[in-house]
Amino acid sequence: MTVGHSPKRIAIIPGDGIGKEVIPEAVKVLKEAASATGASVSLTEFDWGADRYLRDGTSLPADAVEMFQRDFDAILLGAMGDPRVPSNQHAADILLGLRFKLDLYVNARPCVLFDKRFTPLKDRTEKDVDFIVFRENTEGLYVGVGGFFKKGTAEEIATQEDVNTRRGVERIIRYAFEYARLHKLTRVCMSDKSNALTYGHDLWQRVFKRVRAEYPGIEASHQYIDNLLLQMVRDPSQFQVIVTCNLFGDIASDVGAGLIGGLGLAPSANIHPGKVSLFEPVHGSAPNIAGKGIANPMGAILAAGMMFDYFGWSDAAKKIEAAVRTALREGKTPVDLGGSLSTQAIGDLIARQVS
Ligand code: NAD
Ligand code: IPM
Ligand code: MN
Repeated sequence: MTVGHSPKRIAIIPGDGIGKEVIPEAVKVLKEAASATGASVSLTEFDWGADRYLRDGTSLPADAVEMFQRDFDAILLGAMGDPRVPSNQHAADILLGLRFKLDLYVNARPCVLFDKRFTPLKDRTEKDVDFIVFRENTEGLYVGVGGFFKKGTAEEIATQEDVNTRRGVERIIRYAFEYARLHKLTRVCMSDKSNALTYGHDLWQRVFKRVRAEYPGIEASHQYIDNLLLQMVRDPSQFQVIVTCNLFGDIASDVGAGLIGGLGLAPSANIHPGKVSLFEPVHGSAPNIAGKGIANPMGAILAAGMMFDYFGWSDAAKKIEAAVRTALREGKTPVDLGGSLSTQAIGDLIARQVS
């Protein structure tokens, strides 16, 4: 047993739909993994999401950002999105609001095939699908700059600005190279659409060329986003580290999730190194299966593992990953992976495994 970890303060935001089902299972597992490794956590739950928003108009409270910076080390979030809020305003305020206001510029989305039975790709095995997508997380088309002109008329104009700053592009590209160096990986692929987006993504091209020159030991390549998605499906083994802009990273990470067995298995980390950071599954609130007790909690559980890794608690993180691998290998799976175990049954068995 490892001792001497300082206690970490974790905010829990289950959110909407299956977020409210998978997060309790992730919490169960993280508590067990922490106590099994002599680590200590204190948890505080927040009821932010569609219910609260519809009840009293609260999305992200005005003092939330300051509170997280002052009182918390990490946030574990389920998902935001509810058919009763078609504008998605609360999700924009809470999820995108936290990414932007906490300046969580790295969205790390690993795509690791734990068991070859779960990839839809023919003749591919675990060694073929093991890469990470670094998605720029604070700018691009997500900044919400734009507007309508003559809304609702036949002459309507809608604009949405793609904001790319030199500082923003450089820090995510540099993070990808540093990650490769730290993990002894040899390939970084940057993906953009500079053949069409000749201003914003020209900046990505120029910054990439400058930064790659500082990492001569790493093979740096480029693929346009349309080809990247094709190549991910055709031969995922060519990728170790992918770095791309906010929107393309969103899309590429869902494709990547498809390669490893689906969204139920994919975790993500929204990080600003050294600062309070946010961990969540890649999937959304899945209204089509919410309330049935069948959602796969493994993505959320692995996101808790990424949080422990971020804390430097690698023993606890490894325990969590190993327990998920074991469940998959033994065919103890929920419905999305062809099994019949409930959300809660998966949580219970992984929690037992890590304890
Ligand atoms: P989704 O990820 O919620 O669901 C896509 C498909 O994957 C659905 O068929 C769903 O049943 C399945 N799925 C997702 N997670 C699963 C799990 N853990 N176990 C089993 N199956 C799972 O994406 P969507 O349907 O496009 O979006 C639904 C809502 O979620 C929308 O409001 C959207 O804006 C929101 N959303 C939120 C986040 C987030 O909070 N990070 C991410 C994506 C989508
Ligand atoms: C994700 C989601 C969000 C995004 C939505 C809910 C705004 O799809 O986290 O991948 O696009 O970033
Ligand atoms: Mn997404």
